[in-house]
Formats: sequence, C-alpha cells, structure tokens
Amino acid sequence: MIKIAVSGKGGVGKTTISGTLARLLAREGYDVLAIDADPSMNLASSIGVRDPPKPLTELKDLIEERAGGVDGLFKVNPKVDDITGRFGVVGPDGVRLLVMGTVERGGGGCMCPASSFLRALLRHVILKDSSAVILDMEAGIEHLGRGTTRGIDLMLMVVEPGARSIQTALRIVELGSEIGITNFAAVINKATDSSLIEEKLSLLGIPVIGIIPFDPLLVEADLKGVSPIELGGPGVEQIIEIKYRILGEYFVKDD
Ligand SMILES: Nc1ncnc2c1ncn2[C@@H]1O[C@H](COP(=O)(O)OP(=O)(O)O)[C@@H](O)[C@H]1O
Ligand SMILES: [Mg+2]
Repeated sequence: MIKIAVSGKGGVGKTTISGTLARLLAREGYDVLAIDADPSMNLASSIGVRDPPKPLTELKDLIEERAGGVDGLFKVNPKVDDITGRFGVVGPDGVRLLVMGTVERGGGGCMCPASSFLRALLRHVILKDSSAVILDMEAGIEHLGRGTTRGIDLMLMVVEPGARSIQTALRIVELGSEIGITNFAAVINKATDSSLIEEKLSLLGIPVIGIIPFDPLLVEADLKGVSPIELGGPGVEQIIEIKYRILGEYFVKDD
C-alpha cells in the first residue's frame, strides 16, 4: 500500500507529477485513488479524465446533513470503490479520481466540510495491499496544519530552482514532522542546471528522489488538456524514474 502526498509552492508542477505518477502506478498494477485537493482542480486533465466528478464542496449539503457530520459518512468503513462510485469517477488505466473542490476560507483558516471529508476519508477508507493513494495538495502547506496528511507514507516536495521553493520545502518538513510524517523527498522540477539546488537540499538533509528537466511537452500537455503520459518525452521519462525509486526504496509491494 502506498500513500503519497505531493506538495510544494504554486506552479512548481505538483499536478503534472501527481497525475502522471497516478497513471504510471496504475500501469504497475496498483489500484490508484487520486485525490485532487488543490482548489484549482486540474488533476483530472493531467490524469486524462475528460469528465471530472463534481467537487465534494458542492456536495456539502449532503455531507453536513448526515447525522454525525462527515464521520457519520464513514461509520461503516467504506471501500475505495464505494466511495469513488458515489463521489468520484474512474479514468484511464483505472485511476479513480476524487475532487475536493474550492475551499471557502473563514477568518482563522479552513475547517470546511471538504477538508474534514478528506481527513475522514483518509482515516477510514479501507485500502488493499495493492492500493495507491496520490494526494495532489494545494499550493503551500495549509493542509498540513489541518491534519489532512495523517497516514501519509511519503511526502514528495516539488521544488524548482529558487530560494522560495526551498523555503517552502523546509516548512513542509517542519510541519509534516510535527504530525508524524517520517519520509520526505524532494523532486527538482523544471531544472536546467540543478547542481546548486541539489547541493542546497543535501546541506539541509532533504533527499532528492528525482530531477525533471524543463520539458516543453509538459507545457503542451497542459495546454491541450491531455495527460503528459500521452505525449511522453524527457519529463515523463524522469517521472518514470521517480516511480521506480518510490517502488524500490520506499515501498515493497507484497502480493
Ligand atoms: N518540467 C516541466 N517543464 C516545463 N513545464 C512544466 C514542467 N512541470 C510542470 N510544467 C508546467 O508548469 C505549469 C504548472 O504546473 P502544475 O503541475 O499545474 O503545477 P502546480 O500543480 O504545482 O500548481 C503547467 O503549465 C505545467 O505544464
Ligand atoms: Mg496543481
């Protein structure tokens, strides 16, 4: 079983990497549940899902009206298939997709139904040995404070060459550690020359799991609204390498 969260500042490539990894893991035989927890909601297109499911925030009446709130929805531990059957869709290679939706923020941060739903889902859903969960997170680290990432085995932090991006990664490690995440790895994305940032991350003790070059085909996939996996290219090649490292170093599939 694999539970991966993908984090990093806005525009670094979280969704591109999440969607591609979801497809690649599905092709490895995993039952993949991809969760779009980014308010910009574009994980569907990077997976290659044409008709995304209705965002869960739009179902909030349903969620709120249940006796016992969101936890009431999960009284009987649900299977991934039941949850996605009701709230999500099945896309190419059998990847299942849930979309959290745009989060309304109150003054002191968000305790809205969608994020409680996500927390409850991650806590209660029954996963198989062959399950893989990919959580495409919103920019920054807001979800961490809300405990949404509890139970995540690997926190992938996408960084692009730049100081702010490294700052974000450090903050993610700090907050993630506080809620019990033990595995963190950086993906350097849009790299032209990665040597400086590699050095910096190594000084900070953050392992680098992969380096993805700047690849115009990834931009093209985004503009055309297709999954990067359909176009291939050097970027996707490196995401494949990352997949192998994840499977080899972090998880051993037991079947
Ligand atoms: N390695 C790369 N090379 C070139 N463009 C990339 C690369 N990775 C991502 N992009 C592009 O950057 C933009 C933002 O990527 P996206 O995955 O949506 O970021 P995020 O989810 O972190 O906001 C998209 O247009 C995407 O195609
Ligand atoms: Mg995104």
